[in-house]
Amino acid sequence: MSDITRGEQALPKAGHRDVANASLFFKRWLANPLQMGSIIPSSDTLCRRIAALVKRAEDEVVVELGAGTGVISRALLAAGVPAEKLVVVEIVRDMADHLRAALPGVNVICGDAFELPKALPEAMHGKVGTAICGIPLVLLPRADQQRFVDAVEAVAPGKGFLLYTYCITSPLPYRQLGLTAKREVWTPLNFPPASVWHYQPARS
Ligand SMILES: C[S@@+](CC[C@H](N)C(=O)[O-])C[C@H]1O[C@@H](n2cnc3c(N)ncnc32)[C@H](O)[C@@H]1O
Repeated sequence: MSDITRGEQALPKAGHRDVANASLFFKRWLANPLQMGSIIPSSDTLCRRIAALVKRAEDEVVVELGAGTGVISRALLAAGVPAEKLVVVEIVRDMADHLRAALPGVNVICGDAFELPKALPEAMHGKVGTAICGIPLVLLPRADQQRFVDAVEAVAPGKGFLLYTYCITSPLPYRQLGLTAKREVWTPLNFPPASVWHYQPARS
């Protein structure tokens, strides 16, 4: 089950730290470290570098999967993605509630990214410019990684997704998953240092 809500107003005035809510993040890490994948939210630098990679036609949305407390969402808004064209998916209800309060006007879906075709409104299927993933996919079995790849492909055919990670090499066995891979970013200005990979369906 998932639910979607959108606030009334536009851009948040809050800065990276206000949105980050490090205490909520840490509390959720204690509760479920494998689901969180990180002790603290992404750094301002990493968020800005991810936002700089986003591509979107005017009628397309940006979808962020595993939005946490919303630091990347905020960077996307600051980089010019209109609030109504940003969709964030977060499985933890406390965090989804925080996202609704911190990011007015953004479409917040409290749901499972692996069920994206069900969670995302049908009008947005085929209208995803960029999908960004923060879910720690590296920790999952291959069958679950494939399920994630297929879920994104169902709503964003051919687009693939950006994945940020602390791995030095590709966190996904991309050839086995039918993908191509390109590392777009590496930054030491994150704890731990992080990379951003762009995965796309391999053409046969
Ligand atoms: C590494 S944190 C990233 C948080 C935030 N985007 C950041 O950069 O600070 C991963 C987030 O993915 C969420 N998550 C994990 N599995 C998920 C799923 N299946 N669907 C949606 N969100 C999920 C977790 O609750 C957590 O908030």
